[in-house]
Amino acid sequence: METKIAEIADGIYRLSTLVPEVAPPDGFTFNQFLVKGEEALLFHTGPRRMFPLVQAAVARIMPPEKLRWISFGHVEADECGAMNDWLGVAQRAEVTHGATACFVSLNDLADRPPRMLEEDAVLDLGGKRLRFLPTPHLPHGWEAGLFHEEATGTLLCGDLFSQVGDGPALTGGDILGPAIAAEDMFHASSLHPESGALLRRLAALRPQKLALMHGPSFEGDGRAALLALADDYDRRAHSTGATH
Ligand SMILES: [Fe+2]
Ligand SMILES: [Fe+2]
Repeated sequence: METKIAEIADGIYRLSTLVPEVAPPDGFTFNQFLVKGEEALLFHTGPRRMFPLVQAAVARIMPPEKLRWISFGHVEADECGAMNDWLGVAQRAEVTHGATACFVSLNDLADRPPRMLEEDAVLDLGGKRLRFLPTPHLPHGWEAGLFHEEATGTLLCGDLFSQVGDGPALTGGDILGPAIAAEDMFHASSLHPESGALLRRLAALRPQKLALMHGPSFEGDGRAALLALADDYDRRAHSTGATH
């Protein structure tokens, strides 16, 4: 396996590893995003077994030991499995997330105490501003949350729009169709009654880029893409009776 690096927005690097064994024959990408600033943040650590690959990829961009912040969409192995490996390598690094993630999981799982973020709190990296947006159960995980990077208009959108296969690092093409196909395959999203409304709130940010954890990054009308995804969640919720 190799980890490909692409700068998908000014100072935001996508580290992408295709794992052919997941969802064959297309495979599935696992992407981390390194947001550079005076204090760099890594969004998603990758699973523990991928740590050497991700560490080597970060080292091509900056000294890994200088990493300051570690965060992720929600608490699962591919999002945060290597969290403690990173805390070991980067002595000044802190894990940061919302109240639910800290109280339910991270106060116990993280080797150093996490830094808790309030809703709408801004993490100022020096050159980059990451606004924390709690998104409970979207697309899954009670503790789920995302960041909007305000200098570049990039939404670090975690598992939203997940798709199989190894596409380009950055696309202006359709990301909704492949996301619907993957959802039909995996059923990974919680059909929570609030999911459509939460997606519409994210759409109001009018992001210019969407940084997908599993798939290409998207540039274009992020608002329209998120509104279309909201409609698809609503359609699924109503067709299964999940809201009754
Ligand atoms: Fe996930
Ligand atoms: Fe994921």
